[in-house]
Amino acid sequence: MNFVGSHILSVDQFSRSDIARIFETADTMLVYAERQRITRILEGAILSNMFFEPSTRTRVSFGSAFNLLGGEVRETTEVRASSLTKGESLEDTARVLSGYSDVIVMRHPQEGSVAEFAAASRVPVINGGDGSNEHPSQALLDLYTIRKEIRTRGAGVDGLRIALVGDLKYGRAVHSLCKLLALYDNIHFSLVAPPGLSAPPAVVSLLEAKGHKVTIHHELERGIHHVDIVYVTRTQEERFASQDEADRYRGLFQLNQAVYTANCEPNTVIMHPLPRDSRSEAQELASDLDANPNLAIFRQADNGVLVRMALFALVLDVADRVDEFSKPVPWHSHR
Ligand code: CP
Repeated sequence: MNFVGSHILSVDQFSRSDIARIFETADTMLVYAERQRITRILEGAILSNMFFEPSTRTRVSFGSAFNLLGGEVRETTEVRASSLTKGESLEDTARVLSGYSDVIVMRHPQEGSVAEFAAASRVPVINGGDGSNEHPSQALLDLYTIRKEIRTRGAGVDGLRIALVGDLKYGRAVHSLCKLLALYDNIHFSLVAPPGLSAPPAVVSLLEAKGHKVTIHHELERGIHHVDIVYVTRTQEERFASQDEADRYRGLFQLNQAVYTANCEPNTVIMHPLPRDSRSEAQELASDLDANPNLAIFRQADNGVLVRMALFALVLDVADRVDEFSKPVPWHSHR
């Protein structure tokens, strides 16, 4: 694809070579993310970071990524703090904000809302998550992490064995990651969800149509045997029709050190898009795994900054000139 000036709305936009381009660019951002150097390549540029649904990682890492490239960030963090509450349409909001910004990141609870917004925007829009539909930058950082973690073992993404665990019905990160992995060869997907929270049939059909092996499990223990990656997800309680319905699923699957030791291979990498639900009755990814060296969740979150810097650099057409505007950091860095 031609990244320059493009909206990033869905992983459907990417080919394998596009992904390789994003990841090569992300690799070049490490010196800036680690504060070895500063770049001002986006000095004067403005990001509107519009989050109409709660977020910690996506919002702050997109903002940090833009700041690290030298740009300024303007934010809205709630629907009630915007004029959407006064009945303003997404289209009018887009027309106005694109006059104030060079690029917009948007999260919104309705599926398709970010595409609707982008259609009226005069500047590139990046989807920060639209309902249960897609979370493309999360899937990119997940794949970037998978690639990094397994590369140390001499393995590549082709032939990967991955267990996707938890709420596969509403989890947009999983939907996007499945579609991205479907571009590779001979992946074995173990889809592990309680009855009622299985992956959408369209996602399963896509994986099967592309020739991947898909096995469905309703028990955690059997689903996580013989995998390179176990990718755990939170029950997306905010998507359920009622809290009572969501409560029925809380705590059904809990990956902890004992379950990991009994069922996973010794070097199975543990991932989670975060946030994990650490309330005592939930614990889909227990904190007793925090000392496990195969727990990659915080390396995964760190990678989000690199991948989001790469997306900005490619969309704003500065990827090859970032170093020209750089200098060493003048302060003491403890990284
Ligand atoms: N993974 C993720 O999207 O986290 P946030 O909801 O905190 O942005």
